[in-house]
Amino acid sequence: MRYFKIIKNAFCLALFMGVVLTSCRSDENQYTDNKRIEELLSRMTLEEKIGQMVQKNGGSFSDSLVRAGRIGSVLNEISVEKQNRIQKMAVEESRLGIPIIFARDVIHGFKTIMPIPLAQAATWNPQIVEKGARVAATEAASSGIRWTFSPMVDVTRDPRWGRIAEGFGEDPFLTSEMGAALVRGYQGENLSNKTSIAACVKHLAAYGWAEGGRDYNTTNIPENDLRDIVLPPFKRCADEGALSMMTSFNDINGVPATGNKFLVNDILREEWGYQGLVVSDWVSVIQLITHGVAADEKMSARMAVHATVDMEMASTSYETYLKELLHEGAISQQQINDAVRRILTVKFILGLFDDPYTNPNDFPEMLNEKHLAVSKKAATESAVLLKNEGLLPISEDIKTIAVIGPLADAPHDQLGTWIFDGNKQNSVTPLEAIKKMAKAKGIKLLYEQGMEISRSKEISSPGRVQAIAKQADIVLLFLGEESILSGESHSRANIDLPGAQQELVKLAAKSGKPVATVIMAGRPLTFEPVLEYTGAVLYAWHSGTMTGPALADLLFGHESPSGKLPVTFPRHVGQIPIYYNHRNTGKPATNETWERMDDIPVEAPQLSIGNTSHYLDYGFEPMYPFGFGLSYTKFEYQSIETDKNDYFQTDTIRVSIKLKNTGDYDAAEVVQLYIHDKVASRAPVMKQLKAFEKVFFKTGEQKTVEFELPVSALGFHNLEMDYVVEPGEFIIMAGGSSETKLDTEIVIEKN
Ligand code: NOJ
Repeated sequence: MRYFKIIKNAFCLALFMGVVLTSCRSDENQYTDNKRIEELLSRMTLEEKIGQMVQKNGGSFSDSLVRAGRIGSVLNEISVEKQNRIQKMAVEESRLGIPIIFARDVIHGFKTIMPIPLAQAATWNPQIVEKGARVAATEAASSGIRWTFSPMVDVTRDPRWGRIAEGFGEDPFLTSEMGAALVRGYQGENLSNKTSIAACVKHLAAYGWAEGGRDYNTTNIPENDLRDIVLPPFKRCADEGALSMMTSFNDINGVPATGNKFLVNDILREEWGYQGLVVSDWVSVIQLITHGVAADEKMSARMAVHATVDMEMASTSYETYLKELLHEGAISQQQINDAVRRILTVKFILGLFDDPYTNPNDFPEMLNEKHLAVSKKAATESAVLLKNEGLLPISEDIKTIAVIGPLADAPHDQLGTWIFDGNKQNSVTPLEAIKKMAKAKGIKLLYEQGMEISRSKEISSPGRVQAIAKQADIVLLFLGEESILSGESHSRANIDLPGAQQELVKLAAKSGKPVATVIMAGRPLTFEPVLEYTGAVLYAWHSGTMTGPALADLLFGHESPSGKLPVTFPRHVGQIPIYYNHRNTGKPATNETWERMDDIPVEAPQLSIGNTSHYLDYGFEPMYPFGFGLSYTKFEYQSIETDKNDYFQTDTIRVSIKLKNTGDYDAAEVVQLYIHDKVASRAPVMKQLKAFEKVFFKTGEQKTVEFELPVSALGFHNLEMDYVVEPGEFIIMAGGSSETKLDTEIVIEKN
């Protein structure tokens, strides 16, 4: 359901409020709300208006500011008692009684922690992602939080970037679908319902393009790529009705996002007609000074207002300088009124004017069984089976299992980054869950942590590791990264398994027993060096409260893995950026043309003929491609058909893909649809994901999966920056990964 339709004519604010309010309130209420907003605005002093544009961190302000109507929003105050006290001052003791909106980073769950967003993307299942967000919203709202700073839809091609964990990977389409699912989940069916919270789509924009994957770093991106790759998820979430957006910390081609009029005012507001609330990131308004584009706080406030950033988070340049800027004519009354209208609109839509207080008794209990079941399902569906030489699922003949590794029983780390309110006491670890399941099956379980933490430089108990591995019929290794090694400002230049983990794998393998490895991490890790020592790899990310039960089900075959990679896994960090939707280059590499370093004769002459684009040492292919993931069963892709061969620009292409579960397990498969524009005025990328569906198959079952693809989805931004679908031949491809199995050709005609 869309609450927040985009209006093409950006300046039609009255109409906008009508549209927004219509979709969640009765006509009469909407009329009253519009009237109340205008009435309020006409009664507000300049100080009160500026006050609405101020967001303060919990505990950093005095009661008198609230009573004076000088604060619009508070973040990070999660004591309901304190919130209600603050709200009472705002609503009952301030001149106009405008409620405060309480905000918080509820990124992947509040108390019931869902898998990290990157793992949620690996489910390729928007329904479960939406359910997870609904759970998060309900729990957060019961703590008085009505505004979350999520989803983060920053597309990235760099696994070194710590915040890759918080987004949905490298693909604009998958990111768009996941972002939209979170928006639906947070905002619910009816935004004035007490369990609904406002989404905040962030970080506008190109934050994931940080040079070298170093957080906050400079970002250079051609406008075409900005429009084709980075911005589509923001547009998708705007169309889904997201009530707010957040500007990013980075500069884009030299212009920091928070002061970027082109990005926020021209594209977001004027081109897209977005009238939601735009908030800065934490002190990013005054960081315009650090970036070097503003001389002082006054100038940074002016730049942010001109960019149409409505609310300043944490820093104080708005409250200090907007009045002066207005009197000097450097900003206008209209700009302030528009910002305040947008802020008040969100508060009205959420019903805060009518019902500003929180009573936790009005809500279901946190961490209840239903919530935990959603978390478990999301965790189960997010794990990606990357290698399996018949080790998994664990055979019924196994009598003794050795569980080894620093992540097997790490209740805090399995929760992942950005869990302000999650509690490790509620985590069920893999060790706990496997123990329980092994007991029920009469299997003996031996356990040794092996290393204190993921970064430990030494194996703490090599003797015991070897001894239990020898006694076991199978070794289950739990490796990866602690949660603190990914997330904001936690980028890594080396993304190998940290510490002594490579040695740990070798030591376990030395036992001669089969070794299956579960990797729990906030990003793709480069673990190729250990592949030869392990017969199976299940990539489990940091998958939240219910990681343990989800993994136990998968390892023992109660569930078949169905996750697929939302991001390309490099073999070596030096290959980055490596991503599936790349251009062909003039000299694409093949296995035949890849000149292996070790094969080069001594003093070989340097030639310029027959060369291709690859690395001498690591070739040109990734360790695992985007969209990849194995199952316990096998899927045979049998045929692809389109309803016609020729299409006009306004047509819809109907694609049918036939596939069959030819293996021995019931399982779900993610059917993926890609396109390639054969000739275009701007070099086309080799593959672009355009549709996907997760479908369940019983053993032996054959199904035809149908997709409807509007021709308008096949376009790109040309050199004039117009979005065009150029007539000509296109290839439509399908498969269970970006390494597709089937293809067919169509022609797009001129209209
Ligand atoms: C900084 C982060 O970049 C942003 O994502 C977050 O929402 C804010 N801090 C508020 O905590």
